[in-house]
Amino acid sequence: MVRIEMGHLGSGLLFLVLSCLSYSPSIATQVSHDGRALTIDGQRRLILSGSIHYPRSTAEMWPDLIQKAKDGGLNAIETYVFWNIHEPRRREYNFQGNRDLIRFIKTVHQAGLYFILRIGPYACAEWNYGGFPVWLHQMEGIQFRTDNQIFKDEMQSFTAHIVNMIKEENLLAHQGGPIILTQIENEFGNVMGPYGAAGKKYVEWCAKMADSLNVGVPWIMCQQADAPQPMINTCNGFYCHNFKPNNANSPKMWTENWTGWFKKWGGRDPHRTAEDVSNAVALFFKNGGTLQNYYMYHGGTNFGRTAGGPYITTSYDYDAPLDEYGNLRQPKWGHLKALHLVLLSMENALVNGDVTTTDYGHGATATMYKPANGTAGCFLANQNGTTDVLITFQGLQYLVPAWSVSILPDCKNNVYNTAKIQAQTSIMVKKPNAAENEPAQLIWQWRAEKIKDTLKGQHGSFTSTQLLEQKMATGDTSDYLWYMTSVHMSKSDPIYSKHMTLRVNTTGYVLHAFVNGKLVGSQLGKSGNYIFEAPVTVKPKKNDITLLSATVGLPNYGAFFDKDPAGIVSGPVELVGNGNVSKDLSASQWSYKIGLNGYAQEVYSENPKHDPKWTTEALPLNRRMTWYKTTFKPPLGEEPVVVDLLGMGKGEAWVNGQSIGRFWPTFKAPSDGCGNCDYRGTYDPNRCTTGCGEPTQRWYHVPRSFLRSGDNTLILFEEMGGNPTQVNFQTVTVGTVCGMITERNKVELSCQGGRTISQIQFASYGDPQGKCGSFKKGICESSDAFSAIEKACVGKTSCSISAEDTTLGWTTCGVVENRLAVQAVCS
Ligand code: GAL
Repeated sequence: MVRIEMGHLGSGLLFLVLSCLSYSPSIATQVSHDGRALTIDGQRRLILSGSIHYPRSTAEMWPDLIQKAKDGGLNAIETYVFWNIHEPRRREYNFQGNRDLIRFIKTVHQAGLYFILRIGPYACAEWNYGGFPVWLHQMEGIQFRTDNQIFKDEMQSFTAHIVNMIKEENLLAHQGGPIILTQIENEFGNVMGPYGAAGKKYVEWCAKMADSLNVGVPWIMCQQADAPQPMINTCNGFYCHNFKPNNANSPKMWTENWTGWFKKWGGRDPHRTAEDVSNAVALFFKNGGTLQNYYMYHGGTNFGRTAGGPYITTSYDYDAPLDEYGNLRQPKWGHLKALHLVLLSMENALVNGDVTTTDYGHGATATMYKPANGTAGCFLANQNGTTDVLITFQGLQYLVPAWSVSILPDCKNNVYNTAKIQAQTSIMVKKPNAAENEPAQLIWQWRAEKIKDTLKGQHGSFTSTQLLEQKMATGDTSDYLWYMTSVHMSKSDPIYSKHMTLRVNTTGYVLHAFVNGKLVGSQLGKSGNYIFEAPVTVKPKKNDITLLSATVGLPNYGAFFDKDPAGIVSGPVELVGNGNVSKDLSASQWSYKIGLNGYAQEVYSENPKHDPKWTTEALPLNRRMTWYKTTFKPPLGEEPVVVDLLGMGKGEAWVNGQSIGRFWPTFKAPSDGCGNCDYRGTYDPNRCTTGCGEPTQRWYHVPRSFLRSGDNTLILFEEMGGNPTQVNFQTVTVGTVCGMITERNKVELSCQGGRTISQIQFASYGDPQGKCGSFKKGICESSDAFSAIEKACVGKTSCSISAEDTTLGWTTCGVVENRLAVQAVCS
């Protein structure tokens, strides 16, 4: 007999689990650890955490995101601290708006969750320059992330600043606050080889410095196998079940379980299935893990110029359990929630039990955690990538699908299998802005970005006889740096010919070249150096050469990434003529200008420095270096808002003066490489991608808190040329909800934002096939199911359906276990 019991946690157990998720705010607790787990007031605890990076949403969004994390069964929130937004100029600090770290921690505290603070202050995180302020790079004699006194002083100053702030606000656990762990550095171990002995000394110093700050909770160093005590080394990755900490007294902790992956301009959309994420989590706890953090639980948005690089997109959705806008991503959110509830119900067994594992071969194992007091808990794993197995465990048989883990919280009843999704699937839709008729009703104004001064050359703010590295020159105050020079030519010059070639060796990222005021070409390079060449016409007199270099997010990862050059550093810049004779202009007198005039005048702001003189006359399309402006009415309701920028080229967008990030819809993902997605087998971000041949990012999040009633302003800076006449605002909501479950299970269908289920599109109880959006009837079904489901769900904001003969009627399928597939419309 095959016994597959996918029962439900009883309501009493559920209550117990939910009440364990919260702790009493403001009561001082002592956090420590032993080799098994973190201990809070002497009790070993199971910690389920999720990363939410506070500046990737708005302070107004935080309570909802945190509540959804709590509802999803997490008991902790984790974030990095982003040095460059807090100390934009040396010793000038900013903790306003969505930089308000303290408010974020307090919001988590109010929700009754623990907090993991990764101070770094190097973050990585696909964040501009990994979180380092660029002024640091401009300091004489500095060397990053190594045994360099200047760097260490700055790192210590910022780390201590943050520690003092959290102490003053009583946010550490022993002060009654939520912070139970703090992190120093980030994954230095992955890249430290090239830093040699000085890197090793730096690790020692990081540990001592952190320890000296007396935070009173344990410190962690992730991906740092040589982390010195008392630092606990932790694991990051798609899987961490085989990880072993470097000290017998360190618990096995997983600081980054990547729920998906980030996206680059020109890249596909990465996805990681709920089956694979949950399998990885279950394996980790099966193998002795006691703290796990999802990176990301909510990815969010890289507003302004915060995206890392090169070429990280504005969206940092990450395929996380909460989508970029804060909606539940289903079934991922729900499938993980069910897992969390089961794991937390087994907390005592997992943190205190004696472990025994039985190996059945071919990737099949059974693990039992038997505590001295209380119920034993068990896991059955089948890590074979293709074959399902029948495991006989304690006299009963269990079918464990390939690449999955079954959880038996009482070592008997299989209540959860990572490959069997009970949670609803939601298909999100974008709805037009009901407040006005867009795009037709949007009236566009425009103004040219004035570039005449720079095109004439030698009108910069400083000069040099060298080609300068871009971030050194700009301090990254802008994406843009103008390099200007002029060349005097005479007909007697040996290289002179009317038609010549301009050749620029640049480190990127985007280059626009002008000769005598005319654009001669543009080019972009995604990684490292490239050579730009364009035919040019020169005159036998003074010729102005103007090169505009644009960065798209500074690098954030790798050994010495801080030194990766940007811009036309050292060149050469050459004019080539007369049969390949070249004139090297690299050491000419170069004049430099940082940024664009419109930015300097704050054209995008609600209070620009000068009247930008917008006009509605002769709206230009596909014109480079152009500002566009329109007013719009905010979409009604509460649902997240996006602006569809299809038609635009590359640039930056602002709503009511707040930057919603860089846009680049013309940059498309490769047309191939997307396809069927099998969750089985080791995941990598090139599997399960979507969006082939489509704009890397077409929709841009406009947080509700950026909007006001009445007229709102959208301003676009267009660098490459675009057409704003298709631009429109939309809301993102659940369009269709589905469930597919086996007999004796239950599915909850829920719309969001007060919307109701208006129609059942498909329902079949029997042997239906397919997936949400394309279900098909099988050969047998119950004739009563459809109407029973209609009755239970239509007109409701949510409904719960049990797949039972008693509720859905008898099927004609015989002894085979029935399945229910249902698809409903929310409106
Ligand atoms: C890790 C890093 C994170 C993030 C992640 C990829 O190596 O620690 O900050 O960059 O990779 O999303």
